Amino acid sequence: MNLLVVCLGNICRSPAAQGIVERAALQKGLHLNVDSAGTAAYHIGKSPDRRSVNELGRVGIDLSRQKARQVVVSDFYKFDWVLAMDRSNLQNLLAMRPKDATANVVMFGEYVETVSFGEVDDPYYGDESGFQTMRLHLTEIADSFLEYIKPVK
Ligand code: 4NP
Repeated sequence: MNLLVVCLGNICRSPAAQGIVERAALQKGLHLNVDSAGTAAYHIGKSPDRRSVNELGRVGIDLSRQKARQVVVSDFYKFDWVLAMDRSNLQNLLAMRPKDATANVVMFGEYVETVSFGEVDDPYYGDESGFQTMRLHLTEIADSFLEYIKPVK
């Protein structure tokens, strides 16, 4: 199973989502290949935002080796799931998805039952507290998503 988590810049939310899903898969004994990308080109080649690196570091998840990249058309064939952080990311992804794409393209928070948990707020322009909120939210979403797709061990 191949998962691509996607946000706008690929420096705040999706690198954190990648680290969280990788660790959840490890803890559950699941074989998942996880990558992340951004719909925008602003930060290609950069490391994740230091606020995301610090926040995930608090729970022992290392994002420091990730590098930002932009979504490419081949992602829609290579990955089983392309997972958007918010509605704007989802719209951008659906606009570039080829007609014969094989990936499921949905919001990452789609399968969380709790009301209003669908979108992961962009913490980029806020303060550090937004990054903790992001981490907690992504952790809940990752658990729900893995429960929903029930990948094989
Ligand atoms: P991300 O956050 O999409 O979670 O990586 C952002 C990063 C950069 C910008 C916006 C959002 N930006 O406008 O540069």
